Amino acid sequence: MNSVPGLKALSIRGNLIDPPLFCAPMAAITHSAFRRLLSDFGGYGALFTEMLSAKMILHENVLNSPWLRRRPEEGKVFYQLMVMDTVRLPEIMERLALLKPDGLDLNIACAAHTVMRQGGGADLYYDMVRLREILGVMRRNYGGCFTVKIRLGNEINDWFEKLVERIRLFEDEGVDALIIHPRFYEEKFRRSARHSLYAELAERTRLPIIASGDISGYDSYSGNYASLEPVSGIMIGRIAAACPWIFAAWHNPELKVDRAEVWFRLCDYIAGDFTPEQALIRVKIIAPYFGRNFVFGHEFFKRIQSSSDFETARQRAHNFFQASPELAKRVSIDGI
Ligand SMILES: Cc1cc2nc3c(=O)[nH]c(=O)nc-3n(C[C@H](O)[C@H](O)[C@H](O)COP(=O)(O)O)c2cc1C
Repeated sequence: MNSVPGLKALSIRGNLIDPPLFCAPMAAITHSAFRRLLSDFGGYGALFTEMLSAKMILHENVLNSPWLRRRPEEGKVFYQLMVMDTVRLPEIMERLALLKPDGLDLNIACAAHTVMRQGGGADLYYDMVRLREILGVMRRNYGGCFTVKIRLGNEINDWFEKLVERIRLFEDEGVDALIIHPRFYEEKFRRSARHSLYAELAERTRLPIIASGDISGYDSYSGNYASLEPVSGIMIGRIAAACPWIFAAWHNPELKVDRAEVWFRLCDYIAGDFTPEQALIRVKIIAPYFGRNFVFGHEFFKRIQSSSDFETARQRAHNFFQASPELAKRVSIDGI
């Protein structure tokens, strides 16, 4: 299938991603239960796990863990890792190989304090020695498609030179593709992603670039094609949490979806994989995004957010949908 105008199938180290549409890694959202829902709709080329602590993999039952599991129907799954150092990293990679990942991604994009304090994400971006070591060990212990996900660094005078220096390092250490979310670390989700930078970045590297940030579907892609043309793949995050059918809708704009049915299907899938306590946390995290489908979506979010247990959350969602909530004309994830 190659039905995305302007986007050609992407071959990364012999792994053909067609169409080159990816679901972004999102903590506590892109677990296997959510990816199962995405797979019901289809339309993507590959999905990312949420960010997984590499060390955690040493202690989990690799094939059974709700964090690590993948289902055949999900299709291609890239595992995203938070890695702090190279201690036992070859062993971690060996365990991960049991899951036959279609790709491995190193998270250098996250600027959350909890991650940085441990030496991951943005902290790793500024520690070139440790970064080189980690990249080297990952590359030597994994023969498949190896990507890194980055932001632009911090907005300091020489941020662009520092970024290009890291891109050179990624090339030297055998990374296969770059996922670039063109915001500075300190911006979190403020301002718009700087798509206009992709042309200049693509000129500086032979590696394919996958764009992440503020691409909300086919219209947003085609409307911004002048800036997105240099990239080889598109990654969608928050809008997929709001509209898990977004990849199917990319190819079929007329797609009709019963939001209530989708929400309860997601709840069932989550409840099948997690304990009720873990499931409650996960529906609370995705609720603000899913709520954006409705004019009074904050009401949906508030009811889920204040639920004391999973069954209450389910009942409250049921009450919300029974009132036939008005759909938003356009789903926007601005501000979240
Ligand atoms: C709730 C949430 C969790 C996220 N977790 C991760 C993560 O685990 N790893 C990562 O690299 N990026 C993470 N991101 C960032 C997304 O992957 C993506 O780069 C960002 O949301 C911009 O894309 P979007 O505008 O399509 O949402 C997260 C974003 C959100 C909203």
